Amino acid sequence: MNFKELYQPVHTIIGEGCINEIPRHVDHFGGKKALIVTDEGLVQIGTVKMVTDVLDKAGRPYAIFSDVKPNPTVSIVNQAKAAYDRENCDYIIGIGGGSPIDVAKAVSILATNGGKIEDYNGLELSEKKGQPLIAVNTTAGTGSEVTRAFVVTDEVRKSKMLMVDSNSLAYLAVNDPTMMVGMPPALTAATGMDALTHAIEAYVANSRCPFTDGIALEAIRLIGQYLERAVKDGTDMEARTNMCWAQYMGGLAFSNAGLGMVHAMAHQLGGFYDTLHGVANAILLPYVMKYNLPSCPERYADVAQTFGFDVSKLTKTQAAYAAILYIEELEKTIGIPKLSDTAFKPADVEELSKNAMKDTGMPENPRKATVEDVEKVFLNAYFA
Ligand SMILES: [Fe+2]
Repeated sequence: MNFKELYQPVHTIIGEGCINEIPRHVDHFGGKKALIVTDEGLVQIGTVKMVTDVLDKAGRPYAIFSDVKPNPTVSIVNQAKAAYDRENCDYIIGIGGGSPIDVAKAVSILATNGGKIEDYNGLELSEKKGQPLIAVNTTAGTGSEVTRAFVVTDEVRKSKMLMVDSNSLAYLAVNDPTMMVGMPPALTAATGMDALTHAIEAYVANSRCPFTDGIALEAIRLIGQYLERAVKDGTDMEARTNMCWAQYMGGLAFSNAGLGMVHAMAHQLGGFYDTLHGVANAILLPYVMKYNLPSCPERYADVAQTFGFDVSKLTKTQAAYAAILYIEELEKTIGIPKLSDTAFKPADVEELSKNAMKDTGMPENPRKATVEDVEKVFLNAYFA
């Protein structure tokens, strides 16, 4: 193939107070009643109320499904879809980080295509465009509001299903930094590292293109400049706003270039142990970069330069190491745990690695890995 197809939400709004524009967009597609898909924590801290206040003021009816949990399962998707049907909704507002928006995408696909969510595990398996979805992001990391990808855990097989489906793209992606002020430092750190992983994996992915290269590098630059500030002071609106842009561009980059071995491995830690997605990525990123380095030293050297290093007197490999060391230091500063601090058990490494080899991120990885290679990277991270 000698062309590239690009995927993005139909509309995007980014910036302080942009949630107030939601009713105007609902008018565009004639939405009558929304199912808000979110989690209980976001209801408790008042984040969901920020959106429902806007809907109430505009006289727009809605129902709320707030039972989404991290690493959402097939049964949570089924419960959300049942609420959508019971409440006679005709569009969906996902409010959250990756998990609620992932469930919202699943409901959107099921509402028009029917069947079970397992039927869509893979690449472009639905036939019809999903019901209109408004994806309101509350973290600066997952990129779920931007992408055509969503992840649902198969609780029976203890594995994550990755659906990549352009019919799940949001009608409207919303990134309002005022929604992110309440995000605690540990979650800001984890989701910010998820965004960095998206950008770096997209920048070295086999399906990269000039469009994804450009936005990936700018996302990397902004994260290097603003993530630590956003973690230290959640009310720093300049940092929050720039992390919004970074995570949006990182999401757009990986949605169009693909991911890689970090995500392929991190999905297994999430499926097996419920490890927070951003934490799993952050832990694995430097180790996968060391593994990948012989395949793409010049690309990682670009990453070092983007972080602000003068690489003019370094070899490409030395510059690549500068980027890796920078990431390791950043992770210490913002409090990312080690793999040995998580539920990971070395005894599981063979099964985790075999599953990682089947993940859709793996074919995009710049270095072709064997199952033994994946095992070694897990163990390197564990015994570090
Ligand atoms: Fe991710």
